[in-house]
Amino acid sequence: MNSIQHHYLDLSPHSPISLVALQEPAKLLRNGGLVLFPTETVYGLGANGLDDTAVKRIYKAKGRKSDNPLILHISDFSQLSSIADKISPLEKKLMDAFWPGPFTLILPHTPQVPSSVTAGLTTVGVRMPSNTIAKSLIHYAGVPIAAPSANLSGKPSGTKLSDIQEELFSQVDFMIDGGECDIGLESTVVHVIDEVPHILRPGKVTPEQIKAISGNVVIDPHILGKANHQEPILSPGMKYRHYAPNTPCVLVCSEDNQKKVQKIKELCDQYAHPLILCSHENLPRYSSCLTLSYGSYFQLEEVSHSIFHLLRQVDSYHPDIVFIEGVPKEGLGLAIMNRLLRACEFQVIHV
Ligand code: TXA
Ligand code: MG
Repeated sequence: MNSIQHHYLDLSPHSPISLVALQEPAKLLRNGGLVLFPTETVYGLGANGLDDTAVKRIYKAKGRKSDNPLILHISDFSQLSSIADKISPLEKKLMDAFWPGPFTLILPHTPQVPSSVTAGLTTVGVRMPSNTIAKSLIHYAGVPIAAPSANLSGKPSGTKLSDIQEELFSQVDFMIDGGECDIGLESTVVHVIDEVPHILRPGKVTPEQIKAISGNVVIDPHILGKANHQEPILSPGMKYRHYAPNTPCVLVCSEDNQKKVQKIKELCDQYAHPLILCSHENLPRYSSCLTLSYGSYFQLEEVSHSIFHLLRQVDSYHPDIVFIEGVPKEGLGLAIMNRLLRACEFQVIHV
């Protein structure tokens, strides 16, 4: 692609345009272009996953380190054999259970997969999204699509086009607006090692759901802990600074809601312009403070849906600090806490 052309397609919920219009960006993808597209998790920055030169453009556009591999997205099982090898019965069971959907499996790759996708590893991450726009786009492209989350490296992943348009506009050839992403957090990443699924990144598909299929599951210790640079990391992405606003953020956790609110109020008294990210239910308890609701404490789907957009908003309020209420680490809460810990660069207060 010599000149960058800015094509745009509105396929957001009330658009009258049909999915057939995706043939144009699909063709661009096949020919080496970069396309911003929606999935059920977050927006993706896609390129032809079998084209080394196109894939390298993704790293450049995001400012992504070359040792952080990409996920290949497929639209049906027939695309799998060209990219992944030696699939075990348990891996097949997991695919059948969670595809199409927010689930990525780390598999041994075929020689056809360029090393720019795998960052030189022997494995490749594969996902079959359920979002209709993503599915049709991949289907029309006829090749697996390499796509990281659409955001500059280190920033929260894009969950609505208006959040990422500006930072990626000049880097991409085509943008597809699909409205707000349903889930709002990236897929669950799983590597089956010695017949046991290891969760490398938590997402909408929970450890409990995986265990129901496989009988056991291991949650990688880095999910809730800080990566120590001496030990090997199964998922390179976990060692990088991620999701953090420019303003320092502190996560406040307690099993007792009263205590959590009390602690945040005390902490706020020490600052001139604190901002609080809290549950909808706790909004009235911080009446004199600047607050943003991340949704209901009892509906963690609301929190996952809104959290990246909110993390992108906080700097615009010019606070001197942000206090974020923690959520329980069960179910979808594990994925939310994994992202919040990184947004807070592991600054956590437990009361
Ligand atoms: O929901 C998602 O997964 C989104 C949408 C666009 O599909 N994609 C996404 O990609 O989140 P990305 O590149 O932002 O995150 C992929 C994560 C990174 O942490 C990366 O290190 C890890 O998956 N990963 C990719 N390939 C891997 C491999 N072969 N082995 C271990 N980890 C891998
Ligand atoms: Mg990402």
